[in-house]
Amino acid sequence: MESAIDIKQLTKVYDGKVSALDGVDLTVKEASIFALLGPNGSGKTTLMRILTTQIHPTTGLARAFIYDVVKDDDEVRKIIGYVPQEMSVWTDITGYENLLIYAKIYGVSSNRRTKAIWDALQNMGLEDVANGSVKKYSGGMIRRLEIACALLIKPKILFLDEPTLGLDPSARKAVWESLRSFKKEYGTTVFFNTHYMDEADLYSDEVAIINRGKIVKTGTASELKRSLHSEIISFRLADNGSKSGHPAAASLKRESDALKKIRTLNLVEDAVVHDSIMDVAVENGEVAMPLIIDVLRSEGISLEWIRSSKPTLDDVFLKYAGMRDRSG
Ligand SMILES: Nc1ncnc2c1ncn2[C@@H]1O[C@H](COP(=O)(O)OP(=O)(O)O)[C@@H](O)[C@H]1O
Ligand SMILES: [Mg+2]
Repeated sequence: MESAIDIKQLTKVYDGKVSALDGVDLTVKEASIFALLGPNGSGKTTLMRILTTQIHPTTGLARAFIYDVVKDDDEVRKIIGYVPQEMSVWTDITGYENLLIYAKIYGVSSNRRTKAIWDALQNMGLEDVANGSVKKYSGGMIRRLEIACALLIKPKILFLDEPTLGLDPSARKAVWESLRSFKKEYGTTVFFNTHYMDEADLYSDEVAIINRGKIVKTGTASELKRSLHSEIISFRLADNGSKSGHPAAASLKRESDALKKIRTLNLVEDAVVHDSIMDVAVENGEVAMPLIIDVLRSEGISLEWIRSSKPTLDDVFLKYAGMRDRSG
């Protein structure tokens, strides 16, 4: 597959002293949804401003398809759409009127304008409110209108800076459902910045984690989660004392025998017992769990409960960006 975005050793130093990007290498596949995830001040907006030709990098290269974002900036602007973090529509006019202004700015020819506007409104589910004042729109509707404006030229790459910042969960979902169906229809590449882990997890094909201007990890959300630590399955062992007169010793022997066998299972990385709870680190809990239960049964150990905990993208962020984001 062709890459929609190719970035090589990109740096940005503001005013000769603030290093915002520090050697970024990144490739984004065509027609994918790509999430750039990072804490505040990590360089997300800077990177997006460079890719959308608003500012120049200090050193390094970036391309949108075959076009260099510095040398071919006019060409780049023809194939991209951009929704900034700040509000980008006028609230004292209607949604339709906003789109008309943007259609003129983007140079959509007058005979194609009406259709382009209604297509964009439909893509974002705004036909019914098109002629209402934006003042009366909810936050989610305003965001969808801003995206509709960026979709007027049916861009090959759509850049979204924190697209759902401050929206409630149902509005976020509505934004993403519209975006996904647009992407499916037109094969658009979507590049978005976020500090919401769950958004990267739910909606992106690939994620890159940026911290202090450096890409610290890339992969699919599930690859990142798997790269972290394994799933831990905890087994609460029932009181397995026998009537032999040495219940504790017999029980301990059974536990240690079971532990040895469980450690030799292929999918098991490690196993320990503490306070009648056996914690087993595994690669794949769904597959490993029945095998472990079989071993415990064969050793005559019964169970009170089983609990499993999988790593979340939060854990990945914590590890690679060195902090847990609390602003979302
Ligand atoms: N125009 C600017 N002038 C000077 N420093 C800036 C400017 N824009 C951003 N920065 C600095 O660059 C770093 C990265 O900022 P930014 O790209 O906005 O991060 P993010 O979008 O991840 O919050 C921060 O330290 C920020 O203060
Ligand atoms: Mg930002």
